[in-house]
Amino acid sequence: MRTLVFGGTGMLGRAVVSQGRRQGWPVLGLSRSQADITDRERLGYWVEAFRPEVIINCAAFTEVDACEKETEKAFAVNGHAVANVVAAAARFRARLLQVSTDYVFDGRATAPYAEDAAPAPLSVYGASKLEGERQALGYEGALVVRTSWLFGPGSKNFVVTILDLVDRGKVPLRVVDDQIGCPTYAPHLARALLELSEQELTGIVHYRNREPVSWYGFATEISRLANGGVEAVAVSSQEFPRPASRPAYSVLEVGRFEAIVGHSVEPWGEGLEEYLSQLRQGVHE
Ligand SMILES: NC(=O)c1ccc[n+]([C@@H]2O[C@H](COP(=O)([O-])OP(=O)(O)OC[C@H]3O[C@@H](n4cnc5c(N)ncnc54)[C@H](OP(=O)(O)O)[C@@H]3O)[C@@H](O)[C@H]2O)c1
Repeated sequence: MRTLVFGGTGMLGRAVVSQGRRQGWPVLGLSRSQADITDRERLGYWVEAFRPEVIINCAAFTEVDACEKETEKAFAVNGHAVANVVAAAARFRARLLQVSTDYVFDGRATAPYAEDAAPAPLSVYGASKLEGERQALGYEGALVVRTSWLFGPGSKNFVVTILDLVDRGKVPLRVVDDQIGCPTYAPHLARALLELSEQELTGIVHYRNREPVSWYGFATEISRLANGGVEAVAVSSQEFPRPASRPAYSVLEVGRFEAIVGHSVEPWGEGLEEYLSQLRQGVHE
């Protein structure tokens, strides 16, 4: 499948490009400077040149706290620019996979969020990504893929934050224990996106790794695997105020994904072990 990836140098974008090449697909991953998704003409140029069968949009303004102040930019990139991506896809009737987030939900649920659960974002980031979903779903060839808590090579993420704190002797670690979600290894998601892009699917589908855990639980597992464990203290979100509110519970239901592809989602522990081993070998790409 000829696959064009916007945001192709971010954490997920790189993983998609690598996975595609591993599968022998012609994949072109474009950086922001090559293809700013707010620039409709530029996207038109790339689809004319590459003639993709599928476009995977991994481009986003992902700094959740910064989005609270930079509302206009958040909506421009995460929301309105998706209309440009749709226009590019529509030119040659390419399928479009638009990556979205668990932060479209308010986190008040007590059971996993199904694809048709009512979104109610708590943050500007979540609201802007929801607008991006709306733009994508206006296109008949679009599939919105929501995911959560990404980690992996290529970008700052929770795993490197924890390792860095331990390295700098910032122990005991203080980590929030009242937000529950599912960490997701970017290369696993990349594989899932390529599996999904081969299907004639539309609407929304959820993909994340299993099992649910709190940030505190995730941090203790990271430090256990990386350093044999360090002292950690569970704190509440109130003790750790951030500009953007996060959902307390953002576990996504993945039954639809599992039924479509015929296998279960991978455990995040597998991804974590692979990632830590790469970091130990000095592989950061
Ligand atoms: N990270 C998570 O925990 C998480 C969780 C759920 C969903 N997601 C979603 O997953 C997708 C991938 O995120 P990620 O974690 O890979 O983020 P990332 O590492 O920040 O990558 C995002 C990429 O988008 C690029 N970008 C920003 N503005 C752009 C623009 N106007 N035009 C083109 N490219 C632009 C960035 O380029 P620059 O670096 O040059 O700005 C960066 O390469 C996003 O849709 C995100 O919302 C992420």
